[in-house]
Amino acid sequence: MEQSLLNKIRENTDIVEFIGKYITLEKKGKNYFGLCPFHNDTNPSLSVSREKQIYKCFVCGEAGNVFNFLMKFENISFKEAVRIVAEEIGISIDSGPIKEDKNKVFYDIYDIALKFYQNNLLSSLGTKAREYLANRHLTMDIIKEFQIGLSLDKRDNLTNMLTKKGYDLKVLNDLGLTTNNYDTYINRIIFPLYNTKGVVNGFSGRIYNGEKTNKYLNSKETVIFKKGENLFNYHRAKEEARKSKYVILMEGFMAVIRAYTIGVKNCVATMGTSLTSNQISLLKKLSNTVYLSLDGDKAGQTATINNGKMLVEAGLNVKVIPLSDNLDPDDFILKYGEDKFKSLISSAINYNDYKIQILKKGVNFQSSTELTNYINSVLGEISLVSDEIKREIMLKNLANETNVWYNTLEKKLNEILNTKDYKEKEQEIKVIPKKSKKDKYEKAMQTLIYYMLTNRDVINLVINSHLYFPIDSYRILAREISYFYEKYGYINMADFKSYMENNNVLNETFNDILALDLDNNPNRNTILDYLMVIKNYNKALEIKRLENLIMNEVDPLEQAKISNQIMKLKMESENNGK
Ligand code: CTP
Ligand code: MN
Repeated sequence: MEQSLLNKIRENTDIVEFIGKYITLEKKGKNYFGLCPFHNDTNPSLSVSREKQIYKCFVCGEAGNVFNFLMKFENISFKEAVRIVAEEIGISIDSGPIKEDKNKVFYDIYDIALKFYQNNLLSSLGTKAREYLANRHLTMDIIKEFQIGLSLDKRDNLTNMLTKKGYDLKVLNDLGLTTNNYDTYINRIIFPLYNTKGVVNGFSGRIYNGEKTNKYLNSKETVIFKKGENLFNYHRAKEEARKSKYVILMEGFMAVIRAYTIGVKNCVATMGTSLTSNQISLLKKLSNTVYLSLDGDKAGQTATINNGKMLVEAGLNVKVIPLSDNLDPDDFILKYGEDKFKSLISSAINYNDYKIQILKKGVNFQSSTELTNYINSVLGEISLVSDEIKREIMLKNLANETNVWYNTLEKKLNEILNTKDYKEKEQEIKVIPKKSKKDKYEKAMQTLIYYMLTNRDVINLVINSHLYFPIDSYRILAREISYFYEKYGYINMADFKSYMENNNVLNETFNDILALDLDNNPNRNTILDYLMVIKNYNKALEIKRLENLIMNEVDPLEQAKISNQIMKLKMESENNGK
């Protein structure tokens, strides 16, 4: 792609605004900070610079410009990322033929099956199923939006259709569409499941005639379907969650579909399993804040506590929408109406408060043992709250309801906080990235290259002094920077990063340099010092080479010559050192 076009697209896209649409950024000093989506971050360590138009993570070292961010975040190619960024500013780019997914044929088969099932539902054989869906208050529009279908009461319906099209039964069995050569889904309402890109990769089939069998039958794990790596409705909820700045996590897909019908479109579901770390990363990509709207029964409460804990540990803000009468969100909305549910969303409570409510249930305040246990667990919860004022309020409430002196509770809380602080510090030490120890020569090279990218005078200085970078990767980088500068008449990190996109070998070296945190305006003397450090290093290398030469030289005249050269070099270095 034309470099000048890349530069133009990048220049017209502000990196802070752009990344801000994907993760929550907060301004601290000159830069913006957010949770890094590229490692398991609990403390905002991704820094975005408006001035430099680059981002970098202080922990995992990921760095780059707006294109690199999108590439990493969406797991797409550089070209694809450029196309998307360009589209946002109204430039359309043909990114060429998109690389064929090796699993394409599997998705194609699922797509054919999906259309087949959708068609069944609309056919005369689908009357009862349509009645069932209508009874569940699912309109034709919703049925179309969620691509709901029907498998007929025949065991070879789909099998015949697909094998006639030439698909191999073995493949169909592997994909879970057939089981032992016959249809997997027989007489079930078919809910398609999608990967994060919105491509169908599995089905969940629900009984609708009250048969005595599993209510739902789900796709088995296949090459394209991994239950723990998907969240139902992720692709539809993406935009909505980013807009509303929170995402609602539910248990079942009926709840998600119901919420959708009342215009609450930022919901996703785990589909009845416990939350995986993979799903937590997906949630993080949607928002910093997760609302838990799980079922109102005992199991739902336990799941709320467990999921909430994992999400808090992952650095997310967690709120809870508690539902009464053991209802799930679907039943709740049908029973109490959309306004009631929406008002529960706006009054969602903090996870900590919810947990305390649950702890309180069934505690006998007359029993000193039960009361003590209760107080200790609540203090444990309060210790997790980072806001000091909030902690004080919670402590006061606890003192009031238990009739235990405030100061006693406070003392105990401080004890917990102190041991926690200690533990956290220990942990932090473990997280500190292991930066390979750089020697002063490497540091000098990195610093010079950094300033070549921010300051054209440094480029000229490096060129005019004929500086030779003794390490290949730095030498190539310096040469490319000079080339870019000469060709385009300017230089900056963000555009140079696009320019270097094809050079995978240098990626890591370059990212290390981007991640440096240096003063904006280098002092000329400092730059000259760094130049000298490298020059002396080169001389030291040359001296070593010559010394080796002498040892193998037999001709005394040659030996003297070399010895002279060494002397000269040594003297030069000494003078420079001053
Ligand atoms: N589930 C499943 N197999 C079952 C029961 C449940 O895979 N036998 C999964 C489904 O993905 C379902 C979720 O767990 O969406 C939640 O289960 P449940 O609350 O029982 O189902 P609902 O979503 O309420 O579905 P329905 O209203 O149709 O009963
Ligand atoms: Mn239900």
